[in-house]
Amino acid sequence: MIKNFPELSLVGLSCHLGSQIKNTGPYREASKRLVHIADELQDQGFSIEFLDLGGGFGISYDGKKTPPLSEYAKAVQEPPKGKPYLLVIEPGRWIVAESGILLSQVLYKKSNPHKNFLITDASMTELIRPALYEAYHPIELCEKRRGPQTTYDVVGPVCETADFLGLKRKLGPADSGDYLWVGFCGAYGSSMGSQYNVRPRPAEVLVDGDRVTLIRKRESLVDVWKNEILSEY
Ligand SMILES: Cc1ncc(COP(=O)(O)O)c(C=O)c1O
Repeated sequence: MIKNFPELSLVGLSCHLGSQIKNTGPYREASKRLVHIADELQDQGFSIEFLDLGGGFGISYDGKKTPPLSEYAKAVQEPPKGKPYLLVIEPGRWIVAESGILLSQVLYKKSNPHKNFLITDASMTELIRPALYEAYHPIELCEKRRGPQTTYDVVGPVCETADFLGLKRKLGPADSGDYLWVGFCGAYGSSMGSQYNVRPRPAEVLVDGDRVTLIRKRESLVDVWKNEILSEY
């Protein structure tokens, strides 16, 4: 088809294997396959300029070891060695995940015979990954006080059973008004955020050494419904 449309020129091949991939094997395999297809297309007279291996490079949210990026590089670079193809990648998480922190305040504590809850002002509307994927994110109190540790489910105030940031977390003494931070929120955090339960989105601040810059204004309630139209139909 591409050959029949002079307006079109085939310049490259792209793939994306998925996300949070913590071994290099799939990248080597994908690179081999893209090279194979590209070579065939070259033989058919196309001139392939680039092979895009997508993103998906896994990171460790819990401190467990993951391959260094250099291992992924070796895996994708070996198959096209000596070939005229430019290699392209689309890393997202690997670049920004660790740089983002969600700061939250403890609203209050609650217990039942089976569990202790720490209810925070942050919720699945700011970080949906725990609810969506049962993803683990580190949670720490900003101020560490002396005293016994307690195991908490750290949950948000949204009226949803899935509204949690972390389950069975051992934390030191915590009280209403205390601050805590949730780590690794730089990727798929605010970008997947919502205004569910009429919750305006929070502000975003860039910290560079002792320089602090507001990079996203806090939304107001008006912002939540400003696009709604009251129609008399
Ligand atoms: C086509 C494509 N490229 C790159 C990415 C980035 O993936 P990651 O953040 O896992 O590196 C995604 C994520 O969904 C994607 O769909």
